Parts: sequence; C-alpha cells; structure tokens
Amino acid sequence: MERPAVAWGLEGVVVAETSLSEVDGERGRLVIAGKEVEDLSGVVTFEELCARLWSAVPGATPVPELKRALGMRRQWAFEQIPSLGRALSLPDGMDALRASLAQLTAEGHAPWELNLTLTAATGVFAAAWLRVRQGKNPIAPRPDSSHASDLVRMALGESSPAQAAGLEAYLVTVSDHGMNASTFTARVIASTGSDAVSAVVGALGALKGPLHGGAPGPVLDMLDGIGQGERAEGWLEQELLAGRRIMGMGHRIYRTRDPRAAVLERAVERVEKAGSRTPRLQLARAVERAAEQVLRRKHPDRPLRTNVEFYTAVLLDALGFPREAFSPLFACGRVVGWLAHIDEQRRTGRLIRPESRYVGPAPDAAPPAG
Ligand code: COA
Repeated sequence: MERPAVAWGLEGVVVAETSLSEVDGERGRLVIAGKEVEDLSGVVTFEELCARLWSAVPGATPVPELKRALGMRRQWAFEQIPSLGRALSLPDGMDALRASLAQLTAEGHAPWELNLTLTAATGVFAAAWLRVRQGKNPIAPRPDSSHASDLVRMALGESSPAQAAGLEAYLVTVSDHGMNASTFTARVIASTGSDAVSAVVGALGALKGPLHGGAPGPVLDMLDGIGQGERAEGWLEQELLAGRRIMGMGHRIYRTRDPRAAVLERAVERVEKAGSRTPRLQLARAVERAAEQVLRRKHPDRPLRTNVEFYTAVLLDALGFPREAFSPLFACGRVVGWLAHIDEQRRTGRLIRPESRYVGPAPDAAPPAG
C-alpha cells in the first residue's frame, strides 16, 4: 500500500474552518473578524477588537462593559504579583510570562471571565516584568484606562495619547493571523479538552521562537548593526554568506509584502507626526529595500518580502519600549486571537491528532513464542 507523503511543516494543509481571520498570501490581504486589517488598525480600540473576536464566547458583553471588566481583571492580576514567586525575575520576558501565567487556574471560571483574566494578566505581567528587570517596582493598573494606555503607563511610567494610540494600533494589528504556529499550538491543546490557561501557556512557548514572535528584537539589532542605509546591502550579503537569515523578512504564507508591515509603517509615521521622531524609520526603509534586493538575487523563485516583525521593531522602539519587551508585547496582542481560537476549537473542532512515519530501526526478530 502506498504511504501518504509527509506534509513537512504542515505547509498547505488546512486543519480547521475559522470565522476569525483570513490570510491571503497571494494577494497580501489580511481579514480579521470580517474587516481588512487596514480598516481595524488605528481605527478600532483594543476592547472593540476583543469584542469582535470573542463575540461567540458564552457570556460575551458589550464593549463598555468589557472595557470595565478588563480593567478590573488588570487590578486583580496586579494583586497576584506577590504570589508569583521568582517568575517575574526571570531574565527573559517570555519565560517570565510563561512562568507567571502558568500559575493561574481555569478551575471554576467561565470562558468569558477567563478570556478577560488571561488578556489582562498578560498585559499586567509583561509590564511588571519590564519594571522588575529595570530594578523598579511594578506600577498598579488604572481600571478606568483603556487597556493600551494602561499597558504603556504600567510598562514605561507614563503614557501619552500618541503612545497609547501607537500601541493600540500594534495590538489590534497582531491580534490574529490564521493558523500561525502559536495559534495552532493553542488549538492542539484545546482540542484535547484541556483548559484555556494551559493552551495560552503552550502558545506562548511557540511564540517565543525566533522564526515566529522572537524576531523583532533581532530586527532592531540588525538595524543597529547596519547603522547607515548605504551599508545595508553589503552587510546583508555577509549575513547570507554566513548562512544566517535576515530577520523580519520572509513568510510561510505571504508571497507579497505582509499587509501588517504597511499598517505598522503608517503607525510609525503617526508617532512621528505626534512629535517623537525616530531615527530608525529612514534607515529601516533603506534596509528593507536592500534586503528585498539581496533576497531576490539569492532566491529568484521565492518572493521573500518584509513581514510584520520588521516594522514592529521600528514602531515599538519609537514608542519607547526596549527591545527585550517586544516579544512579550506581541503576546499581549496575540492572546486575544488565541482565546478566540480556543473557543472556536472547542465549539467546532475535533481532537487534533496527525500521524508520523516511522523511519527508525526495525525491531529485532520477534522473540520466540512462550
Ligand atoms: N532570510 C534569508 N533566507 C530566507 C529567509 C530570510 N528571512 N526566509 C526564508 N529564507 C530562505 C530559506 O533559507 C530557504 O532557502 P533554501 O531553500 O535555500 O534552504 C527558503 O528561503 C525557504 O525557507 P523556508 O524556511 O522553507 O520558509 P518557511 O516558510 O519555513 O519560513 C520564515 C518562513 C518566516 C520562518 C522564514 O522566512 C524566516 O526564517 N524569516 C526570518 C525570521 C522572521 O522574520 N520571523 C518572523 C516571521 S513573521
């Protein structure tokens, strides 16, 4: 009997139907909950986006109530900090988030309540970790604030309207993105009947990797390493010669420029208009052009264009966040999508259980009977 081909990396394999988001890699389009990402980012609030993505979760509430409840859950999460042990002292922000969120329990909590708690706690713990890392005390949330504004203030000490708007645009942009690796991880865990805390903690582990959510910090390192636009091409050629990948470039699905790159580039422009000039925007544009050129020469048959992480790095830097906070901030946005997928998986999915092909040694001859 012919054995089925191995779908390495599950490329091209469709594992679910979803009403949450659609990634069109050929046309470079992203639809989240029925709207183009361009019509969401910088347009809707984080809370509105949560309401859109979680509309099917039992107990869903209108936006004003959701905003109030999310604020209360931030306060609750902040009160848990003394009982998190050394979780927030871990040097890596994703390790700290994983270790702190893992101490929550789903026991006795309704799905809607858990969505609010996990979203609130991800923001509060990420901000608190950054403060602890800088040798400062965590800042208590203001339940009346918007989530984005409170997150900026808890992390950086104060929050201007431009910073809050910039972070809000970022969180909305990265909230969901089809069957990406961390979302798939969350769905696999949810498919076993496990709880949302476990699924979110597993998803965080997947997001941490440099091929997924760990890229924006290295993008900033790359911009610093290049320093001036005219040096970009030679620097990038050397990277490829050394067998390294160019961070912020390439994507499994997009064969065009990632639509989120354009949206985030515009968000950086708005931050600049509001008065915080970033020296990195012009450099980033020059590096982007050079990277596309060198990658086109090296891989003429495979379009390797700019992905979301490239302008994530420029935007979060312009907002005043240090690079070690970039991946935890990605988690603050993506947790909304994970939670929506966990719910969808429970309602519509089956146990996710693919197969593997054994290529190990054959067992010794069967032992004699008896
Ligand atoms: N720089 C240099 N070469 C790259 C590249 C990059 N950023 N992205 C892909 N390639 C090359 C690979 O080396 C491979 O070349 P080969 O066929 O000669 O071995 C080819 O393109 C295909 O790569 P592959 O790993 O099969 O693509 P993928 O779909 O599995 O990878 C990413 C997608 C995102 C993991 C990949 O593009 C990457 O590593 N990008 C850099 C990290 C990054 O920005 N991650 C954030 C993603 S949003």
